[in-house]
Amino acid sequence: MLFLSLTLLAALPLVPVWAVPMCSVRSQSTSVSSPTGSSTTPSPTASGSQAVSSSSSTSGGSNLIATSWYAGWETNTISSISWDKYSAVKYCFAVTTSDGNVSLADSNEADVASFVQAAHQHNTKAMVTIGGWTGSQYFSTNFGSAENRTNFVNTVLGLVTKYNLDGLDFDWEYPNRAGAPCNIISSSDSANYLSFLQELRFAKVLDYIEIMNYDVFGLWTSTAGPNSPLNDTCAPSADQQGSAVSAVKAWTAAGFPASQIALGVASYGHSYSVSTSEALPDGKTLALFPTFSKTVPQGDSSDTDAASTTECGVLVPGGFSGIWNFNGLINGNVLTSNGTVNTGYDYTYDECSQTPFIYDPKTQVYISYDNAQSFGVKGNYIKQAGLLGFAMWETASDSNDILLDAIRSGMGL
Ligand SMILES: *[C@@H]1O[C@H](CO)[C@@H](O)[C@H](O)[C@H]1NC(C)=O
Ligand SMILES: *[C@@H]1O[C@H](CO)[C@@H](O)[C@H](O)[C@H]1NC(C)=O
Ligand SMILES: *[C@@H]1O[C@H](CO)[C@@H](O)[C@H](O)[C@H]1NC(C)=O
Ligand SMILES: *[C@@H]1O[C@H](CO)[C@@H](O)[C@H](O)[C@H]1NC(C)=O
Repeated sequence: MLFLSLTLLAALPLVPVWAVPMCSVRSQSTSVSSPTGSSTTPSPTASGSQAVSSSSSTSGGSNLIATSWYAGWETNTISSISWDKYSAVKYCFAVTTSDGNVSLADSNEADVASFVQAAHQHNTKAMVTIGGWTGSQYFSTNFGSAENRTNFVNTVLGLVTKYNLDGLDFDWEYPNRAGAPCNIISSSDSANYLSFLQELRFAKVLDYIEIMNYDVFGLWTSTAGPNSPLNDTCAPSADQQGSAVSAVKAWTAAGFPASQIALGVASYGHSYSVSTSEALPDGKTLALFPTFSKTVPQGDSSDTDAASTTECGVLVPGGFSGIWNFNGLINGNVLTSNGTVNTGYDYTYDECSQTPFIYDPKTQVYISYDNAQSFGVKGNYIKQAGLLGFAMWETASDSNDILLDAIRSGMGL
């Protein structure tokens, strides 16, 4: 049985107002972004033909899913994945190539086989995510004609067979919308994408989608704000940039079943340079949507300001991303080892977005992130709203499963 999932922006395509690049998480010289949306396909049989599967992963005896993306460039971390707490883990990224193929060359392809083997030893589904921020360049042409779609179906099914995968996750950033520079886009993208999925999958096109409910606020927005808000309908109208609640409302209003939506959640946060008067206007309470200066602070120790080259060969000047992984906040002593805030920081928990914020008055750095409390609330929302489960970016950024355990527990797993 082969699962297909699609990663989708929280507010697309129903509310095509986000004209901003989404997350760009830098690793060494490669710039990648978090996946958006996910759907599942039928499994090929040994002969290479396809069969439709409609069953979904189970977890703790329920039908809820608990998933995460594994960033293939993180070395030596496969053995530390908490496999038993995941119904599926997705290896990132197989990037699209100009000849209609995909490539795992930048994501330690040699590790894929052991990744799949480890997953299967734990009865966890092993999937590969195709695309991503840097890997979406050729989706448009790979899906661009009937011949190309058939070739691409065969290519991705070849990947499934080669690695004995249980499913594929498509992360196209984005159909007919600029993502990374040089991505090919076309007004036929959405229709061609559907045709491709139908050919890959026959009738039941997707098992589920994953809503990328993070990078809602970032360096591209006019103020700082929650990276991954649960809710925004309770925020001032100018600050309603999307949220889990708004995205689920839009998708279900369009007829998409809540039971096929996985909520994308983030084990990282964004930091901003915010003056003390903006961050603490009354001298003691942390502001929720402060303006920030253009100087991007360094995030955690993995954040580098090295120059990089885009997938189309353009040199990008250096600069920090300001991203703090959850374990980076702990390793950097912003948080204690149990995930609580260390002394010397201002802290607030926003009851609308249900996310925490930290401010360091010494360095004037303001951080929006997620913690055990916010993950627990998201888990509870997944259960209350009848969603399918969660998908976390990314596996290696948690610390001692503090976030994973909290969201699973919120879901009742
Ligand atoms: C795609 O690339 C893989 C790895 O380089 C190769 O083995 C395979 O034959 C290619 N598929 C096609 C259809 O070219
Ligand atoms: C089909 O794929 C080839 C590359 O493999 C590409 O050059 C061509 O433009 C694609 N066709 C369409 C209509 O996108
Ligand atoms: C979102 O906010 C609205 C408006 O305050 C509130 O009615 C609703 O219960 C909230 N939803 C969740 C899941 O917190
Ligand atoms: C977390 O760690 C801090 C500092 O080490 C400690 O004061 C606090 O009691 C701990 N909290 C929990 C819930 O263990």
